[in-house]
Amino acid sequence: MLPSSSHIETIAVHAGMEGVTESGSHVPVIDLSTTNPLAGVESGGDSYENLATGGDIIQGESAVYQRLWQPGVARFEDGLSALEGTEGTVAFATGMAALAAVLIASVAAGKNHVVALRPIYGGTDHVLATGLLGTTVTWVDAAGVAAAIRPETGLVILESPANPTLELTDIRAVADAAGNVPVLVDNTFATPVLQRPIESGATLVLHSATKYLGGHGDVMGGTVSGPQDWIVRLRQVRAVTGGILHPFGAYMLHRGLRTLPLRVRAQQATAAEVANTLVGHPALTRVLYPGLPGQDPQGLIGRQTAGAGSLIALEFAGGFDAAARFTEACRLITHAVSLGGVDSLVQHPASLTHRPVEASAKPGAGIVRISIGLEHADDLTADILAALEAASPEFVLVAEPAAELLVELVETA
Ligand SMILES: Cc1ncc(COP(=O)(O)O)c(C=O)c1O
Repeated sequence: MLPSSSHIETIAVHAGMEGVTESGSHVPVIDLSTTNPLAGVESGGDSYENLATGGDIIQGESAVYQRLWQPGVARFEDGLSALEGTEGTVAFATGMAALAAVLIASVAAGKNHVVALRPIYGGTDHVLATGLLGTTVTWVDAAGVAAAIRPETGLVILESPANPTLELTDIRAVADAAGNVPVLVDNTFATPVLQRPIESGATLVLHSATKYLGGHGDVMGGTVSGPQDWIVRLRQVRAVTGGILHPFGAYMLHRGLRTLPLRVRAQQATAAEVANTLVGHPALTRVLYPGLPGQDPQGLIGRQTAGAGSLIALEFAGGFDAAARFTEACRLITHAVSLGGVDSLVQHPASLTHRPVEASAKPGAGIVRISIGLEHADDLTADILAALEAASPEFVLVAEPAAELLVELVETA
């Protein structure tokens, strides 16, 4: 048991590791059992009943079947709950499986209306806009939340920073406007290192664990963290729909948590440096990064979040053609979707991650999104400047950009 005064670096390394040393191991064992021996028909049946209805494992009793409960998954869940400051976490095979489980649980409780803030990840936009899981949606901005709530509203959903243009939303203000309706914050971009939405009044925190939590681009996963009543409902949905995380994925994600604070802070410092260097480049109409002057008008950095994160969006004066040429001209930075890994990635959201989004809400055709990794800032900047020149040769950089970096890293408690 970690002392309650533990810092986030200590929690990241040790949470979820209970009993490992006592078992004679240094790291958790990966248990691949799909089924588990039963002590008897009656006790086995009781265990099944408990787990299939969303209960937690009872010490000494059988886990019955991997789809119901898995020890490595539970360890990862404990680790993330400690970081997010929530009563529990339920881990899924992907971020979209996690979101689907929340929507299914809400509909099952008779609440089929969702209020959602745009912009948001294209897959989230898609599942809400299509109503594929039986929900209807009202799209709003933060100021429109209160007016959009109806008796059948089961969720308010937002991302901050938002995908792909990185606007910040005041979670506390949205939670106040939502009243009793649970607010789900997709915390994928910020991670608990920078932002713990529960402390700002959110009820549920979602991650595409595929991104920063894993951090190396080699494992998929999704999580929902929140209060015990939701944990029970989500475990039940997971048991029925079968979206549980694989034990090897759980091991990889749990390992990823241990370096999360280090990676997130280093990537953020590099992103701030790169963004600062690009401000004023003549090929770009805007560098979108919440840490730049004027891009956090509500002063949320330092209050709600400890920093601006490590995603940057660039808007090209030359529109789609220049943006497309840029993504293809990057050499060190890989042209690929996803984000949050040790290596930097660039992609064109309107064509890819936000392709299904309806035209009126799609990100601009001249925007690309860069996920800054752990490479040296000078090497990334050199790659970006060379790609800018290749993409927009008509714009020549004549002077050093001048913007002051507004926000430095702020430590969390
Ligand atoms: C912010 C955000 N939320 C959710 C998802 C969905 O996660 P996954 O791809 O793990 O299903 C993504 C994926 O890109 C994302 O960027």
